[in-house]
Amino acid sequence: MGGLRPSLTDASGGLTYHWRALRYRGNLWKPFCAQVERWLLDWQPPQEKLLIVGPSAGYSLPTGFLSRFAQVAILEPDPLARQFLARRFPALDFVYGSLDCMGSAEAPASLAAEYPDSAILFSNVIGQRLDGLPRSWASALQIALAGHSWASYHDVISTEIPPRTMDPRRFSVGVSLEDVLMGFWDGGELSLHDHQTFAALPVEDYAIWQILPSRYHLIGWRSQCVAC
Ligand SMILES: C[S@@+](CC[C@H](N)C(=O)[O-])C[C@H]1O[C@@H](n2cnc3c(N)ncnc32)[C@H](O)[C@@H]1O
Repeated sequence: MGGLRPSLTDASGGLTYHWRALRYRGNLWKPFCAQVERWLLDWQPPQEKLLIVGPSAGYSLPTGFLSRFAQVAILEPDPLARQFLARRFPALDFVYGSLDCMGSAEAPASLAAEYPDSAILFSNVIGQRLDGLPRSWASALQIALAGHSWASYHDVISTEIPPRTMDPRRFSVGVSLEDVLMGFWDGGELSLHDHQTFAALPVEDYAIWQILPSRYHLIGWRSQCVAC
């Protein structure tokens, strides 16, 4: 199975992402980070080990969440992010894995096999990668992780149009993407980038992440807990 290739220029992370975090984490990103903290507080997997896929330097991850686990492993191809992560959370002794769990449609099965007793958190990475993955990857993931505690927050769409509301919202699974968008934006033509997760990885909970002064991401959250 393929390993993670080190990357500093990944479109979903790398230097641009660190610069944005430096500039906006203390202001523009605060409401979204607070929402992630609430989602993570509600997710109480019984496992003692946690694997985070795509943590970057953990800019959206609260210390209290990470310190709930006896061991925290990560899969992160950005070497700078790994250094920053260790510096931001000095009390934690991260375990660095090398599996590329988004490398192929077979990779989710390898992920489940390599981390059989870990809860797994996809930390805002699936929405940036799904476009380039085989169509079967998301269903393979859900099958492979059926017996795991796992969670994901990920991009659904992004746009430069400011939403009508920044408040998080819950919709039942089965509503259309149009209905979800109407819950946040006024009607009419919405020019957007579709991150292809809406149908592939259905969610009920949504929040807005204003990543730049003029860029808004609609983020979905899903989670499940399974006994050890
Ligand atoms: C938008 S950033 C994640 C944000 C981060 N979770 C935070 O709290 O700030 C996406 C991250 O996923 C990483 N990534 C990209 N491809 C990956 C892969 N195949 N496996 C694991 N991580 C990956 C990127 O290097 C980047 O750090």
